[in-house]
Amino acid sequence: MEGSSTCRLGRQVDLPQILAVASAWPAHFVPRGLRAIAADFAVHSSAVIEEDGAVVAFVVWLETSLELEVLWIATHPRKTRRGFGARLVRFVLEHGQDQVQALVKTASEDAKIDGTRLDGSKFRGSLAFFESLGFRRCCRLDSFWGPEDHALLLSLPLFREV
Ligand SMILES: CC(C)(COP(=O)(O)OP(=O)(O)OC[C@H]1O[C@@H](n2cnc3c(N)ncnc32)[C@H](O)[C@@H]1OP(=O)(O)O)[C@@H](O)C(=O)NCCC(=O)NCCS
Repeated sequence: MEGSSTCRLGRQVDLPQILAVASAWPAHFVPRGLRAIAADFAVHSSAVIEEDGAVVAFVVWLETSLELEVLWIATHPRKTRRGFGARLVRFVLEHGQDQVQALVKTASEDAKIDGTRLDGSKFRGSLAFFESLGFRRCCRLDSFWGPEDHALLLSLPLFREV
């Protein structure tokens, strides 16, 4: 039987479970990425989905006066396609303060980092996920995170036309 799930703001004690969820995606989150998640979690907003007392999905986001940027998001691979990722993005948008757009950067399909398991081709599902929520591709950022570690910038307008 499926357990019941709760979406709530992240707390410091959640960090080990958040890192465990991210670590379950080794082609997406290499050790440097895990360190960056921990650093961003310490200073930015976060939310988790808890099911039967365990964190099964998380998001970390950055807020400025004009933008909400999803910095990190993941659902445990055993819990995907159950709406958890979409619920977390909605949670972020609901916590906004009239920002004009939401942003996210994903790895491009050809992104790699020498000596790691990062595999940009594995981000096709991530791209489809954000596009299903209305995000659209803005531009490619060559070597954004490091040599050959290219990013795609996606945005979701949140403003009303004037
Ligand atoms: C991307 C990710 C967060 C999606 O989480 P999720 O909980 O499975 O997402 P949801 O169940 O809310 O999916 C919502 C919709 O997104 C789309 N979607 C999600 N994953 C998809 C995939 N792998 N391929 C194609 N479409 C996908 C579907 O339209 C889905 O709706 P459906 O299941 O009714 O068809 C999850 O796959 C993940 O953690 N990936 C690894 C980490 C990652 O890539 N993070 C983003 C980096 S920027």
